[in-house]
Amino acid sequence: MDLELKGKSVFISGSTAGIGFGVAQTFLKEGAEIVINGRTEASVAKAMVQLKATFPNGKISGIAADFSNGESVCSLLHQLPDIDILINNVGIYRSQSFFETTDTDWHQQYQVNVMSGVRLARHVLPKMLENNWGRILFVSSECATLVPENLIAYSVTKASLLAVSRGLAQLTKGSMVTVNTVVPGSTMTEGAEHFLTEWAQKENKTVEEAATHFFKEVRTSSLLQRFASVAEIANSIVYFSSPIAAATNGAAIKLEGGSTGGIL
Ligand SMILES: NC(=O)c1ccc[n+]([C@@H]2O[C@H](COP(=O)([O-])OP(=O)(O)OC[C@H]3O[C@@H](n4cnc5c(N)ncnc54)[C@H](OP(=O)(O)O)[C@@H]3O)[C@@H](O)[C@H]2O)c1
Repeated sequence: MDLELKGKSVFISGSTAGIGFGVAQTFLKEGAEIVINGRTEASVAKAMVQLKATFPNGKISGIAADFSNGESVCSLLHQLPDIDILINNVGIYRSQSFFETTDTDWHQQYQVNVMSGVRLARHVLPKMLENNWGRILFVSSECATLVPENLIAYSVTKASLLAVSRGLAQLTKGSMVTVNTVVPGSTMTEGAEHFLTEWAQKENKTVEEAATHFFKEVRTSSLLQRFASVAEIANSIVYFSSPIAAATNGAAIKLEGGSTGGIL
């Protein structure tokens, strides 16, 4: 299937590692031109070297910016070239008790997880509407619906994205611009691998046993009963931001292996 992405320009927030990096690789495979992002010049440069090794002819640039810092975001917006596709991927979480979650914790997760996408969309959506073509895709989480008790602040930010995304989609009425949100479940990123390895060591278990335990005891509602791979999530993100996904707009697309239940 040709996703018709050749020559399209894409910005992916938080893309030097994890799902964002997988999305960057998949866009390059499809012939898109990408701008990646991480907090530091060093991490962006390292990721660009990795990507160029696999895609020597790929058009790859990078902008270092920290979405928890307003000035850094302003500087990013100044440097950002015109783009066809915006992937609002960056997201941070802190597993902690509600009672120990400080105002600063709430504020930081809100800035990075919600305001990153708000600021980027405010910057790029007018031009997309003028061009009568564009894609904005937000990356939420199954936590938006499940709201685990140790991740309340994170879950609130991920639920907020659904409202922001739906509201922006309403602004695209009658145009060829779409705004959607994907809702991934537990995904085997480097971060998840690190978390499982640490937990396994503490519990004297293998990493495989730790992963099985997670689905048997924690994410019991998952129908998939395993972590999704980064590629599985990245493939869907790239499809839903491609020209051929034109009929999907204002949607929340579940990629959570059935964990959130319901028939819609
Ligand atoms: N992994 C999961 O199981 C899962 C499940 C559901 C939803 N999600 C969502 O999917 C998205 C990606 O998750 P992930 O697990 O791939 O994340 P991750 O591995 O923790 O992401 C790391 C990336 O985010 C960048 N980053 C972190 N803080 C940043 C900041 N303040 N400003 C700019 N960049 C920043 C890092 O850049 P540097 O290190 O280079 O600075 C790196 O590129 C998030 O929105 C997350 O909430 C993940």
